[in-house]
Amino acid sequence: MQSIVILDFGSQFTQLIARRVRELHVYCELLPHDAPRAEIERLSPRGFILSGGPSSVYDPGAPGLPAVVLESGVPVLGICYGMHLLAHHLDGVVRPSAKREFGPANVSVCESAIFRGIPPELNVWMSHGDNTDQVPTGFEVLARSANSPIAAMGNALRGIYGIQFHPEVTHTEHGLDVLRNFVYDVCGCTPGWSPASIIEESITQVRAQVGEGRVLCALSGGVDSAVTATLIGRAVGERLTCFFVDHGLLRAGEADEAMELFSEHLDLRVVRVDASARFLSRLAGVVDPERKRKIIGEEFIRVFEAEAKANGQFQFLAQGTLYPDVIESAGQGKKDAARIKSHHNVGGLPAQMDFQLVEPLKRLFKDEVRAIGRELGLPERWVNRQPFPGPGLAVRIIGPVTPEAVRTVQAADAIVRSEVECDPAIARTLWQYFAVLTPVQTVGVMGDGRTYANVVAIRAVTSSDGMTAGWAALPYEMLARISARIVNEVPGVNRVVYDITSKPPSTIEWE
Ligand code: XMP
Repeated sequence: MQSIVILDFGSQFTQLIARRVRELHVYCELLPHDAPRAEIERLSPRGFILSGGPSSVYDPGAPGLPAVVLESGVPVLGICYGMHLLAHHLDGVVRPSAKREFGPANVSVCESAIFRGIPPELNVWMSHGDNTDQVPTGFEVLARSANSPIAAMGNALRGIYGIQFHPEVTHTEHGLDVLRNFVYDVCGCTPGWSPASIIEESITQVRAQVGEGRVLCALSGGVDSAVTATLIGRAVGERLTCFFVDHGLLRAGEADEAMELFSEHLDLRVVRVDASARFLSRLAGVVDPERKRKIIGEEFIRVFEAEAKANGQFQFLAQGTLYPDVIESAGQGKKDAARIKSHHNVGGLPAQMDFQLVEPLKRLFKDEVRAIGRELGLPERWVNRQPFPGPGLAVRIIGPVTPEAVRTVQAADAIVRSEVECDPAIARTLWQYFAVLTPVQTVGVMGDGRTYANVVAIRAVTSSDGMTAGWAALPYEMLARISARIVNEVPGVNRVVYDITSKPPSTIEWE
């Protein structure tokens, strides 16, 4: 399979580069800049993209250019810090800029393979403190901006290019065209990474990993686990058994709906396990979000182990882990990055398990999973379901999880969902919309009496991948209906607030 390797030097945009290359239907992997050579060579890349990063090439200990990049002889595109690295490593000169550029800038580009078909003047996104002052021998200047006299450089013979601006961010005009030119024309890749090829590839890999073993798959009701199970079912047939664990932290009516969907659309054996009492008793009195996640992750595995024993011998546990989960949880390429939440299945699992993991989606982005879900014949309402966190409502109940708190947040959440979904055009624009039960109690008045009850917060966000998000400007009338219904219909709630923070600096879930 043709692939591009993206080496991560710590830019906040690195994941976007990977998403863009995948949008061009070319497989790519994001590896830390100091990944072992064998790991890079295993992919036989047709080209390298070097990301930006916070360092300056002259900083002591700044990440260097791995030898494999130039020794492999394939094309290279350095972006921002990646460009500085190329210039510095070859015989160019990089210096701190007299004027740093952060944000929009205008560049003039010259005729060259990477700017083919692109207008001569472009609005682009810059974010740098250093500049390339002199290009290396054999290189030409390919773009200029007011503050970056060398905003791009290239050596067409060697297929090595550097650009100061960020083609991966949507603010850069024709950014995707620049990447397309590099990936298709310079590296010679063809757009072969399609839903059908991903399915075929995944089935082959699952067969190779599992051999004659038996696989247990946890279905959550979401698209990721449904796609995981369908792929594994196609790979190993009857040797797959699916479990749907109701941990008691699902949304109202969700467990029954999920079971109905499974029986209508998945040609798989699904065992329903009601483990709510067990989860709720382990969570009793726990307030810390990370502990909630760890307990739930661990309890999941314990439930599976028990169910597995009752159903025969299983060596593998399948999970719908996605690529951003892997990148975010590991802080890959950003070794010092603070871990925000140990989420997404990966971080929450206990170290000791009786299973090996099978994760056929772990190199895929959400939009790719949706595309293969469609290709596998899953219905649209399933493919487009809003994401729901593995620890469920436990991270939407701030403070201890009690059966009463679960009922309260379920009731409020059902109202949010039904009101938002009354307007499908709005619902389609949202990444997630839900209710959060806060432990804050406030004074209210109902009838002629004083109340002292909890505050519910409404969260509705737009996002393309959950990594960043904007708060959604829901119509006032919709918010008014949600608020009125919650205070009237949900016992124990006398106030509703709307969360108007984006991610960053907040996160989507409150915990
Ligand atoms: P945050 O809150 O980190 O969430 O902005 C980003 C996306 O991830 C989901 N999320 C989780 N998913 N286990 C999951 O499977 C978790 O522990 C978890 N925490 C957050 C969240 O719903 C959003 O879509």
